[in-house]
Amino acid sequence: MDFGDLLAKRKMVRSYEDRKVPENVLKRILDRATRHPSAGFSQGIHLIVVLEGRTRLAEAAGEDVWAEKGYPLWLSTAPVHIAICADPASYRDRYDEADKSASIDDWNVPYWWVDAGAALMLLLLASVDEGLSAGFLGAHAFDDLSSLLQLPVGVLPVGVATIGYGAPDPVVGSRSRPRLDTVHHESW
Ligand SMILES: Cc1cc2nc3c(=O)[nH]c(=O)nc-3n(C[C@H](O)[C@H](O)[C@H](O)COP(=O)(O)O)c2cc1C
Repeated sequence: MDFGDLLAKRKMVRSYEDRKVPENVLKRILDRATRHPSAGFSQGIHLIVVLEGRTRLAEAAGEDVWAEKGYPLWLSTAPVHIAICADPASYRDRYDEADKSASIDDWNVPYWWVDAGAALMLLLLASVDEGLSAGFLGAHAFDDLSSLLQLPVGVLPVGVATIGYGAPDPVVGSRSRPRLDTVHHESW
């Protein structure tokens, strides 16, 4: 797909058709998503593909409670969930190596969050490029995502991307703002 078309097409989608994502398509998406840059090439971002455990994730996100309030189902409609996690220890180890002058304690930005965002973006775009749709629910929205995913101590959950064939999304964004308002030239 043309890059401009791909960007224009990408929207967070929170409703999916009851249709599986072929294994080879999912593999390609994962291959592309893992091409994200990382600080010092620390490669501390991990993706956990959840197929069997989706109901548990939907429950942990309180989907039934949201449904009682009249919100449409989201997570349970998506045939693929991919949790994005960050492992700060990988960054510490990498930046303690001889070719690095500063330790991560000198950082004013924890770069694993930047890298997780880059991975999420590739995941979203790779999905759209395959004719799929994708959404993202932040880790804060789940009850104890770390335990559910059995994350090792120190590994931090960022959130869960939902991927599938998009269905008409009943939730319409409440906010619109000209995008270029956030672009500045020379100074703020
Ligand atoms: C870091 C991040 C966290 C987000 N968390 C949520 C979330 O918890 N729930 C949700 O419905 N959408 C979430 N979104 C989606 C945003 O609401 C969405 O990207 C934004 O409204 C712009 O819409 P668009 O991506 O469709 O252009 C998140 C997006 C990002 C980048």
